[in-house]
Amino acid sequence: MKRILTLLATLAICFNAMADEGMWLLPLLKQLNGKDLKAAGCKLSPEEIYSINKTSLKDAIVHFGGGCTAEVISDQGLLVTNHHCGYSSIQGLSTDEHNYLMDGYWAKNLKEEIPCPGLSVTFLVSMEDVTSVIEKADDPQTVKSGLEANALAANPGCEVLITGFYNDNVYYLIITRTYEDVRFVGAPPASMGKFGGETDNWMWPRHTCDFSMFRIYAGKDNMPAEYSQDNVPYKPAKSLKVSLKGVQEGDYAMVMGYPGRTQRYQTAEQLKQMISINRIRIDARTVLQDLMWEAMCADPSVQLKYADKYAGSANGWKKWQGEELAFENLDIIGREEQKEADLKAWIEADPARVKKYGDPVKTLAKVVADTDEAKRAFTLVTEAPYNVELVALVGYFNRNFGGGLQQGQDTVAAFEAAKEPMKEMYRDYVKDLDRKEAVALLSFYRDRAKPEDYLWEGFGETDIPAYVENLFDKSVFTSYEKLSACTLAEMRGDPAIELYNGVATVIMKYLPALYYMPNPKADKASKDFAAALLEWQKGKAMYPDANSTMRLTYGHVLPYSPKDALKYEYYTTSAGLLEKEDPSNPEFILPAGIKELLLARDFGRWADKKDGKLHTCFLTNNDITGGNSGSPVLDARGNLIGLAFDGNWESMSSDVMFEPDLQRCICVDIRYVLWLVEKYGKADNIINEITFVK
Ligand code: ARG
Repeated sequence: MKRILTLLATLAICFNAMADEGMWLLPLLKQLNGKDLKAAGCKLSPEEIYSINKTSLKDAIVHFGGGCTAEVISDQGLLVTNHHCGYSSIQGLSTDEHNYLMDGYWAKNLKEEIPCPGLSVTFLVSMEDVTSVIEKADDPQTVKSGLEANALAANPGCEVLITGFYNDNVYYLIITRTYEDVRFVGAPPASMGKFGGETDNWMWPRHTCDFSMFRIYAGKDNMPAEYSQDNVPYKPAKSLKVSLKGVQEGDYAMVMGYPGRTQRYQTAEQLKQMISINRIRIDARTVLQDLMWEAMCADPSVQLKYADKYAGSANGWKKWQGEELAFENLDIIGREEQKEADLKAWIEADPARVKKYGDPVKTLAKVVADTDEAKRAFTLVTEAPYNVELVALVGYFNRNFGGGLQQGQDTVAAFEAAKEPMKEMYRDYVKDLDRKEAVALLSFYRDRAKPEDYLWEGFGETDIPAYVENLFDKSVFTSYEKLSACTLAEMRGDPAIELYNGVATVIMKYLPALYYMPNPKADKASKDFAAALLEWQKGKAMYPDANSTMRLTYGHVLPYSPKDALKYEYYTTSAGLLEKEDPSNPEFILPAGIKELLLARDFGRWADKKDGKLHTCFLTNNDITGGNSGSPVLDARGNLIGLAFDGNWESMSSDVMFEPDLQRCICVDIRYVLWLVEKYGKADNIINEITFVK
């Protein structure tokens, strides 16, 4: 109880929140950022950004598909987000005949909008601090469940969740509303939506037209409804207006959205562990991605099937490499260790603090040491043999079958019923590619795993290529046709099941202790560490780690200098598209039509008022991370000027430490987006829905 009073006092007494750094909690904006927002140039009051009683900006912003952000830009529920956020939905709707991913798509009316099964968007209704109730409780879990149940009863049709902040020093009860009928409206061809591919990913200068459009549909009462032809476009409480003014260096800019995860309240030991574990991931994915890429380049049909798997894998793969490099270059560990030494000295200067906090850094170091082996082994098995697609297929079937492959007593009816949902799983499966993946990943695993984690007796001596040959020849899991023709008795001896069992055994050896079993010692140390940092930094506004809840970050449009003598402009123009174009490189192809428009300088009303050029992307010093993708970049009055879509290479350690001089948020200029919609997509229907501000 005492702890929490101290913490709230800490949060309350702060005068000097600084712009730029910080993924700020919306309910605390007035208290923590009110003055600074104004000083930075914001023309909106905190209540106009977030209010639970009145319509505010937050009502135009949604959590998109659980991993990205999107915003409503018309009174008909039209949404815009990044192309890479719509990517898997668009891939899922695409076929070799109707390849919306590669060719783009533009619905010219509501009827042409395409339902996206499985895609949903979530609005934030409200957030309420419930820390004191939980901290007072003898049994916090029961109290939490009670609070959630009450809130749910009071808010029918909503979801309720209590979420911890500042390493569980603060709890909010969060009420949300989810719409499940979301339809695909339009997107550029992937060559534009992903222009620059993995080469440009995480880097500046950038020319990617990273957007896609969807629409929220609701029941006649405007409330969430399952997909139905009778559903109607959602009428938003708030939609964003679009500014065509463009940005100048120093302009105020803010980003609102759903940052996923950061590690700004973790110790140096925890961070070192994170980096070394990510190295295992990088190495395993290098093996996997090389094979995927080769097959994708050789066959357009394989390219479509594996586009999303590849992009997802490669995005993390490149991020972790950049992070590793930035840790070196920016001495992240050294600086973190210095901070911890200073914190320790501060704690030890007062016996009351020693009593209250102890030495959380030391405790956490012990936790890291205790889990290190298990984490490495777990990462290795999940990144290597578990990524053999055949293993995942058996796992999926086994889940449908209620675990029947291992238990052996399930009925034939359950077995047959488990087959049908598998059809979808084979849509994007290429047996010959997976066969190669299996040889490579099993070999990779054997080279690195400890003998006690071998997948079967004698794994160390197995001739892996011969084993895989037999596996893929014999297993019924290599195609839907074989699977559906197979009887339960025939399936019992399938070699893919043996492989699956071997992998599952190793996973289950580590998973519970690492992720399911409570670890009160670790939890307490991590909570104490954050609480001590907060008290130590009293007077300075502190924001919690990202945790997929809605945040605001505000700052300015700014260039940067990546290294000595080099300065990067804060915006790019279409000239760069032409410079980078390379018809022989799949990552840098300009689709037919785009090049002609650019050469003719047909920029229409979307040209910059000052220089007449088509501005493509720009930079701000907003503090974002994965999950913010698709977030609106807003001017001082809350008008849409762009979409946030990436971070820059020189500050890839940004999830751990914010770098004022180096860290930038990469945004696509909304004028570039709408130029493409109008001039290339010829989708005037979309443009006509949008309200522009002069
Ligand atoms: N780096 C971006 C992010 O994590 C994703 C970019 C997707 N593009 C790509 N080429 N994989 O938000």
